[in-house]
Amino acid sequence: MANKLTWLPSLKGRSLMRLTSFTDEEMMNLIDLAAQLKARRRAGVRGELLHRKNIALIFEKSSTRTRNSSLIAVQDEGGNAEYLTRPDIHFGKKESVKDTARVLGRIYDGILFRGFAQKSVEELREFSGVPVWNGLTDDYHPTQILADLLTVKETFGSLDNTTMAYVGDGRNNVANSLMMGCAKAGVNYVCCTPRELWPDEAILAEAEAVAKKNGVEIKVFDDPKKGVKGANVLYTDVWVSMGEEAKTAERIKLLRPYQINMDLMTATGNLDGKLMFLHCLPAFHDFNTDVTKECGALEVTDEVFESKYSKVFDESENRMHTIKALFVSALSDPSLA
Ligand code: CP
Ligand code: NVA
Repeated sequence: MANKLTWLPSLKGRSLMRLTSFTDEEMMNLIDLAAQLKARRRAGVRGELLHRKNIALIFEKSSTRTRNSSLIAVQDEGGNAEYLTRPDIHFGKKESVKDTARVLGRIYDGILFRGFAQKSVEELREFSGVPVWNGLTDDYHPTQILADLLTVKETFGSLDNTTMAYVGDGRNNVANSLMMGCAKAGVNYVCCTPRELWPDEAILAEAEAVAKKNGVEIKVFDDPKKGVKGANVLYTDVWVSMGEEAKTAERIKLLRPYQINMDLMTATGNLDGKLMFLHCLPAFHDFNTDVTKECGALEVTDEVFESKYSKVFDESENRMHTIKALFVSALSDPSLA
């Protein structure tokens, strides 16, 4: 029955700082819970799993998907969320992160944070006493990857025998988390990126150890055409992440050869087989943004973005179901399922 959860994994009180906050099994359970919650919502059910729960959404950086997914995830299940930006609260200016954590932890049942320093989200977790979820920092974007893995799983039916090729800025927050997410999920990961943007050695080594344990591989290439050969998922992100705007010209020059276009999709050798395109969004794929109104597409062409391979709006919708799974598993009483 779509409106009844068959099972609710208990991650009561648990926070998400990075994907390593959960065991591989716990991460996969969250993805399965998100699939159940998605089916349930599609059947028209708005439940009570978060009845009267209050969640603070602290955002230092902009957001369309993460903010709205979090808000609606809570409201769908009978709870409330408060959106707090830098001008709204004293966070890190007139009041330390530690003090803010201790204040908000006495008011709210959980805190989702998006911002700059990974240290901030970790301090919120340490001092608030409530579950804290990382909605993106300069270093990691773990909630994104839960949605990505759900999208691959529901599109292909399974994550087995899958190779994900990430093409672009190989050391940004999304790439760091995607590499670990693939390793934990048993998906081969190929990073196609120039030497200047090679993944951090420690982060790479940590993911390689997990991949090895799960029988899959991580490879890094600077030649995108070689790297994507045999890939089933081509994934990219913006070339300039929030907070790095001063590097725009340099990045565009460096990453031009890494654009995902039909030539690169063809280089997978899988155009007629198992192949999809993913992007965490927002994407510069046309002339319709302030950044691209003169130069046109950057990390992905409009042709690929609008093609039958593109699952970006399924992926974007899945942000909400996976964030809901995080909130529900940490805050709900399993007997409510
Ligand atoms: N993918 C993602 O995190 O999007 P937002 O920046 O809109 O939240
Ligand atoms: N790497 C991007 C992700 C946006 C969702 C950024 O940090 O801006």
